[in-house]
Amino acid sequence: MKILIVGSGGREHTIAWKLKQNPRVSSIFVAPGNGGTAIDAINIDIKETDFDAIETFIKKTSIDLVVVGPEVPLVQGLVDRLAPIVKVFGPNRKCAQLEGSKAFSKEFMQRHHIPTAAYADFTDALLAKEYLRSCDYPIVIKADGLAAGKGVVIAESKADAIKAIKDMMETRQFGDAGGKVVIEQFLRGEEASLLTFVDRSALIPMVPAQDHKTIFDGDRGPNTGGMGTYSPAPIISPEVMNKVQTNILDRIQKGFHQDGLDFRGVLFIGLMIVSGEPYVLEFNVRFGDPETQSVLMRLESDLLSIIEAVCDDKLSTIDIVWSDDPVVCVVLASGGYPGAFENHKVITGLDKVMNLAFHAGTKLADGIVYTNGGRVLGVAARGKTLEEAINKAYADVEVIDFEGKYFRRDIGQKALHRPS
Ligand SMILES: Nc1ncnc2c1ncn2[C@@H]1O[C@H](COP(=O)(O)OP(=O)(O)O)[C@@H](O)[C@H]1O
Ligand SMILES: [Mg+2]
Repeated sequence: MKILIVGSGGREHTIAWKLKQNPRVSSIFVAPGNGGTAIDAINIDIKETDFDAIETFIKKTSIDLVVVGPEVPLVQGLVDRLAPIVKVFGPNRKCAQLEGSKAFSKEFMQRHHIPTAAYADFTDALLAKEYLRSCDYPIVIKADGLAAGKGVVIAESKADAIKAIKDMMETRQFGDAGGKVVIEQFLRGEEASLLTFVDRSALIPMVPAQDHKTIFDGDRGPNTGGMGTYSPAPIISPEVMNKVQTNILDRIQKGFHQDGLDFRGVLFIGLMIVSGEPYVLEFNVRFGDPETQSVLMRLESDLLSIIEAVCDDKLSTIDIVWSDDPVVCVVLASGGYPGAFENHKVITGLDKVMNLAFHAGTKLADGIVYTNGGRVLGVAARGKTLEEAINKAYADVEVIDFEGKYFRRDIGQKALHRPS
């Protein structure tokens, strides 16, 4: 079986690593891929949004299955385009609006009584600013469309909120993505990520994870794409999970049926747990990065069989088995990230890694792996306990080196030192 994975991040390297474990897989191609997928699979030099080139490659190479990793091609309708010619894993364009439009996803949640922050949406900047008068602060301002994780502002004051509205709606900092904004109530709590497999027959949660978004230890400093993750997420107690099942997962599944949304793929649910009550912050329509690294390392079952079941609407017929062992993933970043940083630094020590180093911003040239992005690697380890997983991951962090290497030293500590 020949598989094409679309994307170039740590998520795609992890999916390739997991799919490769099935002996039915003869070759895996990644478009455009990174330094890690160049080693473990075959990179092809096609951009994730070049639908014509992707389609031509699929036909020429007789690809049997396509897995679409990132949100941009999903929102642009890659799955609708490919479905007539090949088996493809990922939601169609209509369903991808759950990530492509925050207003669309809030309407969905409201319509189906899924707990979420109270909100209003605006296409007129004057009305948005007018509305801010009646708000309590902090308040959350979100650009409606895709903004590569940068389109959310937590405004501490009305002046900050007005500035955010101006930047998004008038200056068009995020282009068309800011043509509409969602203004929502600030929820104070602890976040967790719950990825789910979805088809028409079932919606099955994976093991929950938590990520560390900020650049500095102690959850301080500016937000990044994610500096590390761990799974399980102790905030999702069995009691909280019961509420998630009844108030969120069951209602999403029913909502998909009622609204005629034929979702097939991964639905990522961003949760905020407020005094033991789960709320949905947002949906993504694909595997999260770097949550995927931690979650798929705990998956005992074969990923290919799950993906095939989803494509055929047979998810309800299969068993998915998870390891109880915790996993920790520590991100190694380029010095300066999330601000300006330099690329093309030689990475050493990858051959001495005892656990797993998933590549994100890397590039392979003449047998040498170079840095090629802000988040360079996700170093992940599984342990009998969370502490063991942390120690194993950090031992590998020490053997890998490149100029400017930066990482947080406290990934997973939050879960280790929870007040009980
Ligand atoms: N209503 C809210 N209350 C508190 N924090 C929020 C709220 N909405 C979003 N956030 C914070 O902002 C982050 C980004 O928001 P999110 O909706 O996930 O958008 P995106 O991932 O597209 O940037 C969240 O992970 C959370 O930390
Ligand atoms: Mg998010």
